[in-house]
Amino acid sequence: MEMTADRRSGLDATVPGCSTPASAALTSNWRERLPVLSGDRVTLRQLRSSDAPSLFALLTTEEVSRFISTPPESVGGFERFIAWTHRQRTAGIYACFAVTPEGSDTAIGIFQVHQLDLAFDTAEWGFAIGSRFWGTGFFQAAAELVLSFAFDVVGARRIEARAALKNGRGTGALLKLGAVHEAFLR
Ligand SMILES: CC(C)(COP(=O)(O)OP(=O)(O)OC[C@H]1O[C@@H](n2cnc3c(N)ncnc32)[C@H](O)[C@@H]1OP(=O)(O)O)[C@@H](O)C(=O)NCCC(=O)NCCS
Repeated sequence: MEMTADRRSGLDATVPGCSTPASAALTSNWRERLPVLSGDRVTLRQLRSSDAPSLFALLTTEEVSRFISTPPESVGGFERFIAWTHRQRTAGIYACFAVTPEGSDTAIGIFQVHQLDLAFDTAEWGFAIGSRFWGTGFFQAAAELVLSFAFDVVGARRIEARAALKNGRGTGALLKLGAVHEAFLR
């Protein structure tokens, strides 16, 4: 599934709630610290070590983890994962946001974006949200913020996602954002 910068529709040209304008991709300091992205009933922010317990509880359930890379198997594993996300961000090759719902600072899911080429022209993204928050609109609101971040702040021109064929919900979520099916990988 892929999306390109010029195929987006209905997405803001700037990151709502982010002080970095779209034209400032080259001067953005996202590698030092991710911007806080605010949208419709969700806020996205950099992960903290203290997010590990909620992410462990919400993202290791069978329904969430069935079609994605095996998540860490302990709170400590999530703490190590979070430390790794900071190292990858500092290296300028990856960003990972925590999704927090309106009125709470608890991380209920994550969005990851990583470069597929050295210039970050093409990125791949992935996401997971605790199942009790599925169908609430949080996914779509968060996804639009992350797409604006990737296209306008990072400067990506194309974003890819890989979804397991049997992952009807993950595929449905991508299609409703405007993603286009491109290929089957074997
Ligand atoms: C992917 C994920 C973040 C999406 O969040 P969500 O809140 O479930 O997404 P939404 O409900 O907004 O959108 C899912 C869409 O798929 C549709 N859908 C659900 N099951 C489906 C199926 N079996 N086949 C096709 N479409 C399906 C839903 O009806 C919905 O569309 P609608 O809003 O037009 O009705 C969440 O489901 C999740 O964390 N899944 C586990 C991890 C994962 O699979 N990540 C994606 C890897 S590609």
